[in-house]
Amino acid sequence: MDHFEIKNGEVHAENIALSKIADEVGTPCYVYSKATLVRHARVFADALSHLPSKHIAFAIKANPNLAVLRVMANEGYGADVVSAGELARALAAGMAAEDIVFSGVGKSRAEMDYALEQNIGQFNIESEDEGVELSAVALAQNKVADCVLRINPDVDAGTHAKISTGKSENKFGVPIHWAEEIFDRLAKQKGLNLRGLALHIGSQLSDLKPLEIAFTKIGELVKKLRANGHMITHVDLGGGLGVPYRKGEILPSPAEYGEMVGRVCGDWNVCLMFEPGRVIPANAGVLLTRVIRVKRGMINPFVVVDAAMNDLARPSLYDAWHDFDAICPNGQRMTANIVGPICETGDTFAMGRDIDEVKSGDLAIFRTAGAYGATMASTYNSRPMVPETLVDGDRYAIVANRIEPQAILAEEQVPEWLMGE
Ligand code: LLP
Repeated sequence: MDHFEIKNGEVHAENIALSKIADEVGTPCYVYSKATLVRHARVFADALSHLPSKHIAFAIKANPNLAVLRVMANEGYGADVVSAGELARALAAGMAAEDIVFSGVGKSRAEMDYALEQNIGQFNIESEDEGVELSAVALAQNKVADCVLRINPDVDAGTHAKISTGKSENKFGVPIHWAEEIFDRLAKQKGLNLRGLALHIGSQLSDLKPLEIAFTKIGELVKKLRANGHMITHVDLGGGLGVPYRKGEILPSPAEYGEMVGRVCGDWNVCLMFEPGRVIPANAGVLLTRVIRVKRGMINPFVVVDAAMNDLARPSLYDAWHDFDAICPNGQRMTANIVGPICETGDTFAMGRDIDEVKSGDLAIFRTAGAYGATMASTYNSRPMVPETLVDGDRYAIVANRIEPQAILAEEQVPEWLMGE
């Protein structure tokens, strides 16, 4: 459920007509609905309310906009971060350091140092070497780092290959076959309080079964580690819950996910930790765009919009589907290819799609763009950095400015020695 609905013939974000934002901010532009963010945050938390001990950290990579993070902080969420930059954002948004989890396969020494200085809640260690290094960094600060070991359970998540993370050939975590011996060794590190396990098998999961298989494997590992004399108090179950990208698509709901977690993990006697990303902001955001022109094509017309793969990379990277709707649909349909202005064929949002009829100058949206949208934007083809707005009932604000090419140009320089050549 989201708050992008047609009122008086025009799509609104809550009570704001999208044409108003287009006129005032320009296009392309992201529009987020605060009510939808809050609703999704609550639905997810409610789905886990039966668990006696839990911690929810929003995977901020999905949408790290400062205002969005502030909404999440207000909802009591912590943050799952994967870089010093994300950590700085989470803190700037008002998230408590102890509610921050640091994931990621390549934490640098400087990042560990910074995160320890900030006294974050937990490190999710991805290799034995990383654990040894973290211990040394912690001891140098006279601290002990609370951490868990990320396990690669070797489970096929059944999602797009580029967003699968839990197969043995993926770079993430330590192979489950080596988990006991690595845990034994890392538990002896003086600078670590190794208190549990983590896993995350992939993103946009459309079936709970792979998660259930992975959780079951982790539950067995918890038992073995306890039998080996280890205290296991925390297990981080990661994120990964998929969202519907097409009208009518049915995916497992947070409630079904919560029920499965309770059934499989409910008796582990640990604090269960969660890192939801996409499921919170995806349907709380749209990419607002204007049709530049409709170009005749041999097979279908090309609807050339002013948004491009630099603004929303998912279709070109993962062949992802984003519903495309006119802001003021006239009731007619057309079959078209939807493309951006960038000079490569990959800058295609859809081929041969049945869409609302649009013409030059019309406004339209790509839906379900609130997760992995603006955060993956670039300035390729020297286009501006796409702006972001947040709607709250009758009001809205620009929450990230458009960065013009001139501002980026100002950060570049030609060395003196090239000038005279
Ligand atoms: N935890 C870890 C360790 C992760 O690597 C991720 C996502 C999450 C949590 C959150 O997963 P989610 O709940 O959002 O599925 N750019 C891709 C998605 C990449 C996901 C990377 N890791 C896309 O646009 O589909």
